[in-house]
Amino acid sequence: MPTITCIEDLKQLHKRRAPRMFYEYCESGSYTEQTFRENTSDFAQIRLRQKVAVDMSNRSLAGAMIGQPVAMPVALAPVGFTGMQSANGEIKAARAAEAFGVPFTLSTMSINSVEQVAEATSKPFWFQLYVMRDEDFVDGMIARAKKAGCSALVLTLDLQILGQRHKDLKNGLSAPPKLTLSSIMNLATKVRWGLGMLGAKSRSFGNIVGHAKGVENMSSLNAWTSEQFDPRLDWSKIARIRDQWGGKLILKGILDADDARIAADFGADAIIVSNHGGRQLDGALSAIRKLPEIVAAVGDRIEVHLDSGIRSGQDVLKALALGATGTYIGRAYIYGLGAMGQAGVTKALEVIRNELDISLALCGERDVKALRRENLLVPKGFFDAYD
Ligand SMILES: Cc1cc2nc3c(=O)[nH]c(=O)nc-3n(C[C@H](O)[C@H](O)[C@H](O)COP(=O)(O)O)c2cc1C
Repeated sequence: MPTITCIEDLKQLHKRRAPRMFYEYCESGSYTEQTFRENTSDFAQIRLRQKVAVDMSNRSLAGAMIGQPVAMPVALAPVGFTGMQSANGEIKAARAAEAFGVPFTLSTMSINSVEQVAEATSKPFWFQLYVMRDEDFVDGMIARAKKAGCSALVLTLDLQILGQRHKDLKNGLSAPPKLTLSSIMNLATKVRWGLGMLGAKSRSFGNIVGHAKGVENMSSLNAWTSEQFDPRLDWSKIARIRDQWGGKLILKGILDADDARIAADFGADAIIVSNHGGRQLDGALSAIRKLPEIVAAVGDRIEVHLDSGIRSGQDVLKALALGATGTYIGRAYIYGLGAMGQAGVTKALEVIRNELDISLALCGERDVKALRRENLLVPKGFFDAYD
């Protein structure tokens, strides 16, 4: 077993072990990838304030997200195609999260279905919904998530139309992979991945195939997904979904203070400040740069969570110090999954926990809930550099 010291180690292993089309699906942003890059480079510009001679015993990372206890405020974000990074990837990630004590969010575009994940786990997980034109599918999906015992609905608002990711087009991304000369040559070098896939419970979108009208095979699935994301999604449709779900609701993809105010008026339980990991509006500001403004606008009324760019426990610390009450990792755990399956997801969580814990102590704090702006050093004008 290789020695893993940081998320970057998992990323390098993921790159070696997963088929190129799936690694590159993960490691890409839209268009020029400016927002994708700045999500991480902006975190790096923020520094931590070192404090000494403070009793650092009995530290605590525990907290709550939407009222649910968490071992640390770091959930697993919804990620499509996860079961293509490693066989039964959603089940592996959900089990790792459950054992660790953090929430797992299953994507609508998962490979394992909501039923398969529920059967393989013993605690409720969260379900992420994409609103599709096919209302029967959406109604059915909400009912299935309820039946599976999901304890929150994460409604994604920033992907009603797809930001282009060049690599996916060049690689002919599909699940299962389309067999072309170049994909066959690449798959031939991924023996461990291929053997795993022989035992996969599902090799295509488990929530969709056999559930959406007219989707029984790959070609009908491709046609369905390309035309299904509903561009008419607006607050009235969101209200319909909120009422139909009737449980905890998290609105994902908010990057603007005015939108955050509407979300708070609307009665959601939390918002996720996010630019979809730089995969949608290229040119949008990084999530961490927008966070303080949004916290100032609605932080006293609604839980404000953040994702996009977190690669370390230090990044989590920065988001919490700027007022987020919860964070999510996307790529950081997918690297772990692609590198080493379930053990890799656990490893990613352990790396982040240890980094958060040690950095907390060196900042002179004992409880993540006590983190605040004073723990950070931020370049002058950083948060109002853009108008
Ligand atoms: C490969 C990949 C697939 C994703 N699929 C989904 C998805 O199906 N639904 C969704 O709401 N967000 C999806 N996202 C966005 C993540 O939920 C999250 O916002 C993003 O990964 C956070 O950025 P990070 O990867 O830098 O942590 C995806 C992200 C990645 C990297």
